[in-house]
Amino acid sequence: MSRKYVIAGNWKMNKTPAEAAALIGEIKPLVADASCDVVVGVPFVDLPAALEAVKGSGIGVAAQNCHWEKSGAFTGEVSADMLKSMGVGYVILGHSERRTYFGDTDVTVQKRVRAALDAGLTVILCVGEYLEQREQGVTGEVVAMQTKIALGGVSAQEMARVIIAYEPVWAIGTGRTATAAQANEVCRLIRGTLAGLYDAKTAEDTVIQYGGSMNAGNAAELLAQPDVDGGLIGGASLKAPDFATIVKAAK
Ligand code: 13P
Repeated sequence: MSRKYVIAGNWKMNKTPAEAAALIGEIKPLVADASCDVVVGVPFVDLPAALEAVKGSGIGVAAQNCHWEKSGAFTGEVSADMLKSMGVGYVILGHSERRTYFGDTDVTVQKRVRAALDAGLTVILCVGEYLEQREQGVTGEVVAMQTKIALGGVSAQEMARVIIAYEPVWAIGTGRTATAAQANEVCRLIRGTLAGLYDAKTAEDTVIQYGGSMNAGNAAELLAQPDVDGGLIGGASLKAPDFATIVKAAK
């Protein structure tokens, strides 16, 4: 088993470029001895400042979306090649906020994943169920379907550049965290889905994060679960000490 913890911040629509540089400046010394991979996912306009600010640290920089075409008449969109050309390493795709507010579907997520991998980026692919789906007992089906469709056409070899983030929608920004057992159960199920799509080794090697109100207080218990290999952190990633505490818990 070769997987390593990955702790990624999803800053969502927060921070100006100057504020992004300042926050990374605060985070840098606090995570200098991290034994996991550390990533910050910043708004598009913050990418140049973030790439400059992370220099000399091992911190990776993620965008929060990309388009599936290389170029063209897509007002307001940003291509994977554009991100790659500026030195961005990661892109978050399929986040529930994109699916809920901006019309992303499993099919468009699949196209974005394809474009990102073709450009050489590492994908953080988000999947997760709504509360009603959990209450109806279809969490497993929903998450398996999202995973299978998003990865349509992705090879086992390419899975080395795919991280999956299990983010139950009811836990995002609500302060209502999945229990460690719930998080592990679905992360394990995703791993089982990968074993079916690919093979046991690919499934074992894929990093599967939990996201949804992960914070400095609950990270250690969540990250101690055998199938939880990291976190995708929203609110707590905007506070350097809290983010650093989560990074330290990932070992
Ligand atoms: P919160 O940590 O604020 O719940 O957000 C989680 C998330 O959506 C990360 O992508």
